Amino acid sequence: MTFEQYSQGKVKKIDSYILNSLRRYREGISQRLVTLIDSMTYSLESGGKRLRPLLCIASTEYLGGNPDSVMPAACAIEYIHTYSLIHDDLPAMDDDDVRRGKPSSHRRYTEPVALLTGDSLLTEAFGQMALLREEKAFTSDRILDGFELLVHHSGIRGMVGGQLLDVTSAESALTLPELEFIHIHKTGAMILMSVLMPAKLMGAPPETVQRLRRYGEAVGLAFQISDDLLDSEQAFRYARGPRKKPKPSYVHLMSPAETRDKLNRLIDSAVSGVKNDGARAEPLVRIAEFIRSRKA
Ligand code: IPE
Ligand code: IPE
Ligand code: MG
Ligand code: MG
Repeated sequence: MTFEQYSQGKVKKIDSYILNSLRRYREGISQRLVTLIDSMTYSLESGGKRLRPLLCIASTEYLGGNPDSVMPAACAIEYIHTYSLIHDDLPAMDDDDVRRGKPSSHRRYTEPVALLTGDSLLTEAFGQMALLREEKAFTSDRILDGFELLVHHSGIRGMVGGQLLDVTSAESALTLPELEFIHIHKTGAMILMSVLMPAKLMGAPPETVQRLRRYGEAVGLAFQISDDLLDSEQAFRYARGPRKKPKPSYVHLMSPAETRDKLNRLIDSAVSGVKNDGARAEPLVRIAEFIRSRKA
């Protein structure tokens, strides 16, 4: 099974779950608020890879669970990821005009609407998490553990904290450990959380959580390193406009060959930690290999 074979059907499922969630808002709100649903839809259906929901599903399969049961959490994670990109592109942050091959949210809808679209996605992510109750697969206590995990990895101690350091660090003054700290937080934390979420919801034993944690930490950092490499290799970033502001990047501190080597070592360790578990680990292995060799 290749990554494409694995991901195609799954991405369709994720997309249709997300579109259905948006339809529910649209049906339930005043016509005067429709712009917000339009702007949420614009960013959510604009061709993201859905890497984080895919990891959440792959981890559920690793644990022997039913992927349908975690869809509300997978959707919540994609909401938070999408909000983080909308805010990341704002002029006050990276000032990027293009996202996923289309005008970024503030270019399409104005800055105030983009800000509020991010706010809506962040807030409604918690509404999506609450829908886990309807699945009847998890106890309320475990769903609350899932909420706590989401907060920990997307807030101050995770993505938001990493974003703060990303925008306030002078790239020239960064040491490698400082740069790694930023990467682990701004990008790695959301990826790790996607892998750990099913373990929290299903109450996996500590040894299994530990194994998933090692996998999630490795692919989380590897993903941002692969992003830095892609950025440095392509004159015109895939589906993105030219970068206006410099950003802290591995390739400023290591040669491209050393950066590639670091990426390979992280993926090797992620794969070797789970591959002895056989067929149930196959989706996690395929996703790690995709991160190693991705071109977009
Ligand atoms: C982009 O993430 C931002 C980073 C964290 C590096 P993705 O590359 O997963 O973005 P989409 O969702 O596929 O557009
Ligand atoms: C985005 O990081 C990370 C988050 C939004 C959390 P970057 O700013 O480095 O990524 P791109 O290039 O905008 O996707
Ligand atoms: Mg940024
Ligand atoms: Mg950016």
